[in-house]
Amino acid sequence: MVFIEQVKRLKEENDILLVAHNYQLGVIQDAADYTGDSFGLARKVTEEEAENVIFCGVDFMAESAVVLNSEKKIIHPEPKAQCPMAAMVDMGRLRRYKKDNPDTAVVSYVNTNVETKVESDICCTSSNAVKVVRSLEQDKILFLPDKNLGNYIKRFVKDKTIDLWEGYCGTHDKISVKDIEISLKDHPQAEVMVHPECKPEVVDIAHFVGSTAGILKQASESSSKEFIVGTEVEMGHRLRKENPDKTFIFPGDPLCQNMKRITPEKVLRSMEDLRPVVKIDEKLIEKARRPLERMIKVGRGE
Ligand code: 13P
Ligand code: SF4
Repeated sequence: MVFIEQVKRLKEENDILLVAHNYQLGVIQDAADYTGDSFGLARKVTEEEAENVIFCGVDFMAESAVVLNSEKKIIHPEPKAQCPMAAMVDMGRLRRYKKDNPDTAVVSYVNTNVETKVESDICCTSSNAVKVVRSLEQDKILFLPDKNLGNYIKRFVKDKTIDLWEGYCGTHDKISVKDIEISLKDHPQAEVMVHPECKPEVVDIAHFVGSTAGILKQASESSSKEFIVGTEVEMGHRLRKENPDKTFIFPGDPLCQNMKRITPEKVLRSMEDLRPVVKIDEKLIEKARRPLERMIKVGRGE
């Protein structure tokens, strides 16, 4: 039986909602009930009724789903699929910073572990980061861990002092102006779309900057026929499927190895066995819920 049919059978047998991030392997995206960006996935899992959720993405995404839905069984097919940027927060340093700067609001990107969220006033995703920071009454902000997304926010929020953590995403930080310019030589009419996790000089030359969902929306709404895309290469799957008459080029083919740790075999095994279930201490769930719910209330940006 082919993968998609096995998935269909198991969904019905075990009351499963299968969700996948836009960087998951195309075959997994095609089998999912919902595919989206970090914000969309967090909201979708909360809205849907299913008892069991198979979460195809990296650890922080599955953890956020648990924090927001402690009554549901959230299953992460490969616990080793972890976002290295989330691990770039030293908790001791963060707690010292908070003690020394009691008037500063801590805004954490969802690409963080639960302990970091517990220490945060509010979370954000790439789709609502500017809106979240603008929504705060404090004039001083600590944004963590992604310095590139932090620098992107600073372009729009001029009336607050924003301290940045020194974290970054290795996949996006490697995307270079030089590689984009080489592609532009071959496709001079192309529209350049990049994720805000890219370096400031890459953001400078982009026509559009947005989350993975934002990039998908822009591709379908734009009149351009060619696009140079600065984000993870698997985004090409949905972009091409939804826009068969358009061309998408990914300079350097940026790959997130962690997203690819989730394979169709592991998805099927999890759907059969309903494990591994993501477990988080109840007290941490309680404390991490507030910054995530606050973010959802502020909503998606754009
Ligand atoms: P999105 O929220 O834009 O999908 O981004 C998540 C991510 O991990 C980007 O590297
Ligand atoms: Fe983390 Fe970067 Fe992979 Fe996104 S692309 S999950 S930020 S390592």
